[in-house]
Amino acid sequence: MDFRQLVTDRWSCRAYRPDQVPDAVMREMFEIAQRTPSWCNTQPWQVHVTKGEATRRFAKSLTAHAETHEETSDLEMPGGYHGVYRDRRRAAGYALYASLGISKEDWDARVAQRMKNFDFFGAPHVAIVTTDREQGTYGAIDCGGYVTNLLLAARSLGVATIP
Ligand SMILES: Cc1cc2nc3c(=O)[nH]c(=O)nc-3n(C[C@H](O)[C@H](O)[C@H](O)COP(=O)(O)O)c2cc1C
Repeated sequence: MDFRQLVTDRWSCRAYRPDQVPDAVMREMFEIAQRTPSWCNTQPWQVHVTKGEATRRFAKSLTAHAETHEETSDLEMPGGYHGVYRDRRRAAGYALYASLGISKEDWDARVAQRMKNFDFFGAPHVAIVTTDREQGTYGAIDCGGYVTNLLLAARSLGVATIP
């Protein structure tokens, strides 16, 4: 596929069919992403992939956890969103809820939509990408490149994704 076309065609999918991705397609996707450049060629990403019932089990336990725990983050969250960042963030949120027909006042529907994040939007697989704490920001940056390549590799093979 033409590279510009591939990058332009990728989008975040928020509703999935339950069909499993064939193992061969999955393997090819990860082989492509493995070519991601990294600091000193450390390739500091580890990937855990679920399939079959394990994905739904994981989604259920993650949802239960999210319902009963405060949100925390391994990495420091952004200090704030100002100017163009605030504008883009708002526009993205507005576009999401508007496309789903969810009004600003419909708090229950907004919460229900938010909880779909933890259900992986019904996706048949989830890939958890981790890096050793020792690799710090450098490891995290390399993982960002890896994730982007993984999304593009998936798209090139006809598989929808959301980071
Ligand atoms: C690191 C990262 C985390 C993201 N987390 C979420 C998320 O938790 N929920 C969600 O719906 N979208 C999430 N997104 C998707 C972004 O909202 C999306 O990439 C952006 O709006 C651009 O839209 P597109 O991917 O369809 O081009 C995430 C994207 C990135 C890169």
